[in-house]
Amino acid sequence: MTNQLDKKSQAWSALFSEPMSELVKRYTASVFFDKRLWQADITGSLAHAEMLAAQGIIGAQDLADIERGMATIWQDIESGAFEWKLDLEDVHLNIEARLTQLVGDAGKRLHTGRSRNDQVATDVRLWLRGETDLIIALLADLQKALIAVAEKNVEVILPGFTHLQVAQPVSFAHHLLAYVEMFARDAERFTDARRRINRLPLGSAALAGTTYPLDRERVARTLGMVDEQGQPQVSQNSLDGVSDRDFAIEFSAAASLCMVHISRLSEELILWMSQNFGFVKIADRFTTGSSIMPQKKNPDVPELARGKTGRVVGHLMGLITLMKGQPLAYNKDNQEDKEPLFDTVDTLKDTLRIFSEMVGGQLNPTTGQKEGGITVNAQAMEDAAKKGYATATDLADYLVKKGLPFRDAHEVVAHAVKAAVTHGCDLSELPLTVLQGFNPSIEKDVYECLSLRGSLNARNTLGGTAPAQVRAQIARHRVRLG
Ligand code: ARG
Repeated sequence: MTNQLDKKSQAWSALFSEPMSELVKRYTASVFFDKRLWQADITGSLAHAEMLAAQGIIGAQDLADIERGMATIWQDIESGAFEWKLDLEDVHLNIEARLTQLVGDAGKRLHTGRSRNDQVATDVRLWLRGETDLIIALLADLQKALIAVAEKNVEVILPGFTHLQVAQPVSFAHHLLAYVEMFARDAERFTDARRRINRLPLGSAALAGTTYPLDRERVARTLGMVDEQGQPQVSQNSLDGVSDRDFAIEFSAAASLCMVHISRLSEELILWMSQNFGFVKIADRFTTGSSIMPQKKNPDVPELARGKTGRVVGHLMGLITLMKGQPLAYNKDNQEDKEPLFDTVDTLKDTLRIFSEMVGGQLNPTTGQKEGGITVNAQAMEDAAKKGYATATDLADYLVKKGLPFRDAHEVVAHAVKAAVTHGCDLSELPLTVLQGFNPSIEKDVYECLSLRGSLNARNTLGGTAPAQVRAQIARHRVRLG
């Protein structure tokens, strides 16, 4: 089956003696996924054209024509009227071909001193910078949602676990603030990655730079590719500028870690929602029923988030592997950076949005309050905390304050726990005479430290679970997040 390609529609056609087969065309084209870079592509082209005109490389009329043509293209893409063509391979060639159709020779001059290699690297960076900013904002929303729930639950006690065995009582707010710390670090990582995303490769041309007197710093300033001091950020080596995708890999690593944090939170929500824990409920709209078991409400959203973490981590593996064997400079392999990156961004953004709402609820415009976030069963948490001898360490600490070396105190308490297990009661329910049988220095005040609340209050060091510490952390986060 021969296929007559319209030669004029190819960017490089003169040299080729036979057309591409349909299969190869489909295999090599990227337009059906990279068209999402259209805004970045037009923005980058306009900045390039403006600089070309300022440098006298193209005329003022050319620039005006390019701007006019691009305005039409922008509108057409936005309204859905733009016709994307597989024959034109990618977003860059589609837009350039249409520009030339609209404005003639000026369109053909746009590509002066530029290659698709530095163009695509610039587009991906511009696009990813915008997405990174969105993600940082979504992370702030999620932190605020967690803090709002924490604020209402400072005095609510649940068992803290190690090895998923009851360990020591902790404030539910303290538990939630652990996730706030994780998401704060995620935001820091994205902010840091953004500094390296926001650098301009344009002007590297195909690989070696260009013979035209480009003003790359001007383009960087136009595109907002500047550092905190407003200094333009321009790649300093043309081979590196067109070829490395480390910025995308870094972004994906930050996204993977963020999803891992979401996944840990998901796992906890799933456990807490199970009948055996009964600690929290999430709103019905985040759960689904079973087609066979009428009593079921399954935590589909947290489960899916845990599952989607696998695919985001998979994309990181894909991207890093994509890079590893590539010689300098640009290779077509790099076209494969887009789908994993796009899917990573989509998955992370949706997940962050859904978690903010699931945790913190939705704004009710009438009351101005958020409603429908997670519901906390404080009694179930406290009952569970009473079950696993969570204050055993407190008894050991009590004995240390009475003068026992910690290791001896540990041993004494082990005997006391054994006795409590035999009697089927909590440590705080053992009579004073029984406790004194394990160590005579034990007095009536021991019951204060054996209570959950006493245990909580006693952990009053920086970063500890005492309500005073937790309130201080909430205040710090509030200031930090503004
Ligand atoms: N679609 C290509 C990509 O995503 C654009 C760059 C193509 N460059 C080239 N020399 N074939 O990487």
